[in-house]
Amino acid sequence: MPPVAESALGVKSDFPIFSRRFDGRELIYLDSGATSQKPEVVIEAVASHLREHNANVHRGVYALAQEADAAYDGARKQVAAFVNAGPETTIFTKNVTEAINLVAYSWGRANVGPGDAVLITQMEHHANIVPWQVLCRERGAELRYLEVDERGEISLAQLDTELARGDVCLVAVTHVSNVLGTILPVAEIVARARAAGAVTLVDGAQAVPHMAVDVEAIGADFYAWTGHKALGPTGIGVLHGRREILESMEPFLTGGDMIASVDFQSATWNELPYKFEAGTPPIAEAVGLGAAVEYLSGLGMDRVRVHERALTGYMLERLSDVPGLRVTGPPQAEARGGLVSFTIEGMHPHDIAELADRGGVCIRAGHHCAQPLMRCLGVSATARASIGVYNEPSDIDALVDALLAGREVFEL
Ligand SMILES: Cc1ncc(COP(=O)(O)O)c(C=O)c1O
Repeated sequence: MPPVAESALGVKSDFPIFSRRFDGRELIYLDSGATSQKPEVVIEAVASHLREHNANVHRGVYALAQEADAAYDGARKQVAAFVNAGPETTIFTKNVTEAINLVAYSWGRANVGPGDAVLITQMEHHANIVPWQVLCRERGAELRYLEVDERGEISLAQLDTELARGDVCLVAVTHVSNVLGTILPVAEIVARARAAGAVTLVDGAQAVPHMAVDVEAIGADFYAWTGHKALGPTGIGVLHGRREILESMEPFLTGGDMIASVDFQSATWNELPYKFEAGTPPIAEAVGLGAAVEYLSGLGMDRVRVHERALTGYMLERLSDVPGLRVTGPPQAEARGGLVSFTIEGMHPHDIAELADRGGVCIRAGHHCAQPLMRCLGVSATARASIGVYNEPSDIDALVDALLAGREVFEL
């Protein structure tokens, strides 16, 4: 791993928000796991689309409407190419939560029944738990979990044991845990699940913004992610699906734009991907996400990963200077995405976040939408520092200084 300073991307000045001051202090943002900050190119892409090219899509013949069509469909091509997926099998949704619900409703309601099992892990975000709970309850199926061990990892042997039971019809796993930081061997999980006849879904919300992701190489039937964590605007998510499965599925939401024809009593469905995009889609948001992935491609996702891995290693090293601090998840940066969750003996995670804020540092505290995992960890909450392309070693130093000062406030 190169030293942290050598791998720095030096792009903070591309992000206008970092020129803000809070009580005269710089913004030190270590909450990119919740949402990323946006570079000027994304802000400008959204603004100039609204300023100069705004019209609804897929319905106008005039020149302006065709510009809007080109912008929306062009963004889809950029987004698909970014993760090596096909544009026709790349569906825009509101966020990753909606993408997973789309699969749970459209594929799940038709393919999961009594005697079937859905297999997920104990480290999933609620977005990849609750839709399966509701589906399994409704369809009389069983929801089972792969356990998380003390290193924050799952066991492929347990996966094999579960698959050997012969009833698993869907395996849905996160690519990178939003709490533990663990990078799961998703291509291997998908291959084993597929060999056992199960359909697969990967939640890439914490992966796509931080490393080169090749959807085709991973081979999952569904791969979902969310734009706002990947330097894009809120209000846009992405679902990549295997063509044969998407074609066999009924629509999720119905109405305008997703139809081929409508009669008084019935309708037929539009082709992919439009069949799954009912109503006016998030046009300016798609344009913004297109600009975001172009920006990330310009940096190079391999460089982004090298930078974030080095910074995560530095964060793990520096956090060990704080007495009483316990890190959750894999001990080495190689096995992690760009985030570290931790607790400090004698301090509640919410107090940790508040004291960090006094030092001008934004971190997150809570259950991180992963309450079942909190139970496995034996805590009600953790503090979490998560990085993005714009972070620098000095941000980590500021966090550690704030935590050390916080311990003094608590007289620890
Ligand atoms: C792993 C993971 N999955 C799903 C989500 C949900 O993302 P969204 O709220 O954009 O749907 C998040 C967001 O925190 C996440 O970290």
